Amino acid sequence: MAKNQKIELLHQKRAESRAGGGEERIKRQHAAKRNTAYERLEILLDPGSFHEIDAFVEHRSSNFGLDKQKFLGDSVVTGWGTIDGRLVYVYSQDFTVLGGSLSEAHAAKICKIMDMAMRTGAPVIGLNDSGGARIQEGVESLAGYAEIFLRNTLASGVIPQISVIMGPCAGGAVYSPALTDYVIMVRDTSYMFITGPNVVKQVLNEDITSDELGGADIHATKSGVCHLVGDDETQALMMVRELLGFLPQNNMEDAPVEPSTDDPLREEESLNSIIPDNPNKPYDMKEVIEKIVDDGYFFEIQPDYAANIVVGFARLGGQSVGIVANQPMVLAGVLDIKASEKAARFIRTCDAFNIPIITFVDVPGYLPGSDQEHGGVIRSGAKLLYAYCEATVPKLTVTTRKSYGGAYCVMSSKHIRGDLNLAWPTAEIAVMGPEGAVEIINRRELAEAADPVAKKAELAAEYREKFAHPYIAAARGFLDDVIEPKETRPRLINALQVFQNKRDENPPKKHGNMPL
Ligand code: HXC
Repeated sequence: MAKNQKIELLHQKRAESRAGGGEERIKRQHAAKRNTAYERLEILLDPGSFHEIDAFVEHRSSNFGLDKQKFLGDSVVTGWGTIDGRLVYVYSQDFTVLGGSLSEAHAAKICKIMDMAMRTGAPVIGLNDSGGARIQEGVESLAGYAEIFLRNTLASGVIPQISVIMGPCAGGAVYSPALTDYVIMVRDTSYMFITGPNVVKQVLNEDITSDELGGADIHATKSGVCHLVGDDETQALMMVRELLGFLPQNNMEDAPVEPSTDDPLREEESLNSIIPDNPNKPYDMKEVIEKIVDDGYFFEIQPDYAANIVVGFARLGGQSVGIVANQPMVLAGVLDIKASEKAARFIRTCDAFNIPIITFVDVPGYLPGSDQEHGGVIRSGAKLLYAYCEATVPKLTVTTRKSYGGAYCVMSSKHIRGDLNLAWPTAEIAVMGPEGAVEIINRRELAEAADPVAKKAELAAEYREKFAHPYIAAARGFLDDVIEPKETRPRLINALQVFQNKRDENPPKKHGNMPL
């Protein structure tokens, strides 16, 4: 064969590989409001940055006529590219080829880029759109999944891993996304479940649609499996780009600094009046956050799950920070099972990737009741405590109002290595809130009172005067300072600089035994 013919053959093979499952199937994919594997990569990556590898890999099975259904590249596109100029590795499952099903060869392609990502210290982004294990291949396909799960686990905490669900993701296939740092879903066109509606019908005789069982909104509000939802594929992929901007390339690096025109010394006067006079009246903690961070921009994670705690990323003085904040607007900001798990996971992600944690505290305590106790709030609450205790990144805490009981200890207190603990003058730090406290310590007086309601109000006011302020904690050094709310931004930015080189170490061990 002449040299130019050889080059022609290469072009033909490349074109064949890019054609995926063919025009008809691509049309079906578009009709289902889903892009092809290549189209998605074009949206996700910087223009022209994608370099594909393994475009000529074929599956190796001949079971059930598979030898007559070979597609160059098989059912996944893999390679690397850049996002805002930073290297990322990607895989994009091709539903037009055998339903994106995972063959041994498909798994090997994914494992190869995961290994490269670990060797070079760069994130992996998986675009998932697959009918699951390739049924014709049997255990070889299952082995492929297990190889991916192992790599997901070993890469956890070393490089960021982000999964985007852009079609079906069923059975054991859900465990690769579940092992990664973030799961982003597309509304109406993606779903995740262990067993689909057919099995649910057979086993439980329950009628349920795929969307009701495992659609984006269910996982974003009820199960907490999904961190972010895009209204369409483009929005979901833009969320990946944005998320990566807050994260470092790997656990040995720092997140990128984004200079801002927002003055680091800016005092936010309106914060001085944001806390209502009535301690039982809520206010929006997100407003507090937005008034403090650079350009008022807060990138919230899991906004619709356990909304009594708010977590997400922002920048302060250009530096990426993770924010954890009780939300008085929802359930008065109590800690419960879901909130504890949501925040614990977020804190561990920040700690793994060297992102300082800023905690805003306004918490009346843990949610009481048999639902919570029987559901294991002891164990779940301990997860949050464990995550805060274990974290060695700079930890800055601002108590805006209530900080009662165990929740005081948990929410990044001085005692668990809070680096800078600030409080606003409106802070109330005590074992219990005034009403609950007087019912216990003044039980006899209340029982004997002519007017128990008036007596309780009087005693609660006395208690409030005595305990519900920050100065007892400040007198013991449990708070480093009490500040005017308007000073919060400059104080936090200063503290980020002061503590950027702090060294906290945990004792050497194989790994801790987090209460899971
Ligand atoms: C081989 C598959 C496949 C699979 C789909 N296809 N899933 N081929 N193995 N798992 C093929 C179909 O035969 C079809 O081929 C093409 O992909 C498109 O599928 P359709 O059914 O036409 O598409 P659609 O109607 O959109 O339905 C998509 C679907 C459905 C809901 C995903 O295909 C489906 O239920 N597939 C099986 C899902 C499943 O049970 N997988 C195993 C899960 S268990 P043609 O040639 O006709 O276009 C699992 C275990 C993992 O994954 C374990 C890890 C530990």
